[in-house]
Amino acid sequence: MCPGLEEKMKALQGMSLALALLAILEASAQVLVAGKCPRPAVVQFFDASRYLGKWYEIQKLPVLFQQGECVTATYSRQGTGGDMEVLIKELLADGSTYAYVGSAMVTNSSEPAKMEVYYSPTSLPSPYWVLATDYNGHALAFGCIDYGLFHAQFAWVLSRQPTLVRKTLKDLQDLLASGGVNVDKMTPTNQNKAFCRAMV
Ligand SMILES: *[C@@H]1O[C@H](CO)[C@@H](O)[C@H](O)[C@H]1NC(C)=O
Repeated sequence: MCPGLEEKMKALQGMSLALALLAILEASAQVLVAGKCPRPAVVQFFDASRYLGKWYEIQKLPVLFQQGECVTATYSRQGTGGDMEVLIKELLADGSTYAYVGSAMVTNSSEPAKMEVYYSPTSLPSPYWVLATDYNGHALAFGCIDYGLFHAQFAWVLSRQPTLVRKTLKDLQDLLASGGVNVDKMTPTNQNKAFCRAMV
């Protein structure tokens, strides 16, 4: 065999594995982008205590595990540090309400806006970075997972109300785009009051 051929074969196998994984993930409606995760700036001096309470999801990048409408995330304090519990509720297409709980943990107390959310003790954590918030109006959260040759992006525009002023939404999208996030793929979440009344 030519020297180096074996290594090339191995690299090719690795690549086809990555491509197969890419195909699977793409089929599951994640937003996948080539290269490494962007690292946008987060909120400085993030104050988790002011972030507590209910947020309405206004827009998001599509996520496999969030298929419903009327999505809300309610944060409550957990323990004494910046850690929070999050209750997520959504209205599914069959009219039922789906709710689940996660734990948002700050891993480095010098960067309180960067959290890891665990949805079960055995699940891998999902990164949750707060890129912008005024605490009582809007918030912008971002997450990203590296898969080697590509990465999956997550983003949520949140509001304390079921609606958000168009100008604020535009500003948050611009901020995301400048941070290297694929905002074109964002989808609006239905928060129509009459429609969402079915959610219990
Ligand atoms: C925690 O965050 C600070 C500020 O960004 C950084 O300098 C430090 O290296 C981080 N510590 C760890 C253990 O990652």
